[in-house]
Amino acid sequence: MNICVFASGNGSNFRAIIGAKRSGFLSSDICLLITNNSGCGAVGIAKQYGIDVYHISRYIFKDIDEDEYSGLFISKLKEYKIDLIVLAGYMKKIDTGVIHEYSRRIINIHPAILPSFGGSGMYGINVHKAVLNSGVKVTGLTVHFVDDNYDKGEIILQKFLDVHDDDNEDSLQKRVLSMEHKYYSEVIKEIETGKIKIGNNFS
Ligand code: GRF
Repeated sequence: MNICVFASGNGSNFRAIIGAKRSGFLSSDICLLITNNSGCGAVGIAKQYGIDVYHISRYIFKDIDEDEYSGLFISKLKEYKIDLIVLAGYMKKIDTGVIHEYSRRIINIHPAILPSFGGSGMYGINVHKAVLNSGVKVTGLTVHFVDDNYDKGEIILQKFLDVHDDDNEDSLQKRVLSMEHKYYSEVIKEIETGKIKIGNNFS
């Protein structure tokens, strides 16, 4: 498969996926990084490993309509013959045109057990704060397909983690993130082997 990663931040999941490829665990090519933030850590990682970067944001393309904006993503994804889009800390909503063109070909990782602690405002450290404030004793990660309903696409994998009495949001984030690094590549591997079906390949 040809993979495109979308990221806006540190890019530690992006780095972990590259590591999984370099160790031979994954066979797909990680061809392209799409980002809205040209100064983010993920861009530095892409440069380090010679992965092409496409920087696109509404700040650059202010005057085009939604279809044209989606079209820019789609033509870049087609140019690289992308089979799977992996969202790894991408802070923008994916445009509807892209979601429909790549139906069941976009996956996201969320640092909590959806459908709890998802939706608007639930990103980064906010998620872990909300988990602690709620008093739940278990958190974890969710990998899901991306569809029109934000954070509500079909769930592919969930992994659980106990919340400790002495956890704070930073410790929780660190422990969840290290699980993410392991399991996101495992999901991609299962897509490669066909155990998880993507696109129209359901039978
Ligand atoms: C991760 O916690 C991921 O679950 C969420 O955004 C964060 C990205 O972290 N969607 P990183 O940029 O991969 O370090």
